[in-house]
Amino acid sequence: MTPGDRKRMLDALGLVDWQPRADRMTAGTGATQAAVADRQEPAPDRAPRTVQPDLATPGPAEKAAVEQPTASTPAEAAAAPDMAHHDGPDEPASTVDASPVDTETTSAAGEVARMDWDELEAWLAGRDHRGATRPVFGIGARDADVLIVGEAPGANEDAQGVPFVGRAGKLLDRMLAAIGCSRDTNVYITNICKFRPPNNRDPNADEVAADWPVLERQIELMDPKLVVAVGRVAAQTLLDSKQSLGKLRGTLHRYPRRELDVLVTYHPAFLLRSPGQKAKAWVDLKQIARRIAAQ
Ligand code: URA
Repeated sequence: MTPGDRKRMLDALGLVDWQPRADRMTAGTGATQAAVADRQEPAPDRAPRTVQPDLATPGPAEKAAVEQPTASTPAEAAAAPDMAHHDGPDEPASTVDASPVDTETTSAAGEVARMDWDELEAWLAGRDHRGATRPVFGIGARDADVLIVGEAPGANEDAQGVPFVGRAGKLLDRMLAAIGCSRDTNVYITNICKFRPPNNRDPNADEVAADWPVLERQIELMDPKLVVAVGRVAAQTLLDSKQSLGKLRGTLHRYPRRELDVLVTYHPAFLLRSPGQKAKAWVDLKQIARRIAAQ
């Protein structure tokens, strides 16, 4: 790995200096885990050929955005609007009901079955907002081969009606840019849930079920080659699984309901809280780049 490759990769993932630090080892549980993960993970090797240096190199504003201190306690995380409800690699606690099919869902699925993009977006806007300000339908290239699916809008997304626009979104954009992908050209980005859950909590099974027909129709209309599930909720829901994110990432999955590959990676909000896991995210990004190149 050349120094240039290393710098591009560090920049894309928002890392200034990626050396394990001895002082982290005694700095508390989260920091200790991060340091341990730093030590355990192999150093990321060559960046994929598709890296675009211009996109991957942050300007001063972007740098500031990803280098702000990150929330490290539950209280801090709860106060950070787009970081509160994204768990770690092997979180055992909650799982979503990953089979979002009930009578209401089935009837909504029938309603949207023949809709085009604009009709679908208008249909969503007419649904119960469940306390959210507005729906967050999705953004990007509707004819792209790659669909990125997150969990649910946070405060910034709720305010703007656009997915992944907060700090986590900025990191996601930089990660995608490192493999030549952008919401402006060749990926589409949306969420499992289209409305911000109250108090930024995890979406519950009813909320997942209510919005599921919209995501399914988006997938049908888009017909992507690859879905990238970011975070546990997206991964479990798309794969109809209750396994932890740590178990689901690392392999190419087949979407249960159609011919479509699914890759699972960490939620960028989790990476902001746990920078020590970014090496694994880089491994995932390279896998995504390889999958795209193989098409
Ligand atoms: N987190 C998500 O999962 N989705 C967003 O749109 C923003 C933050």
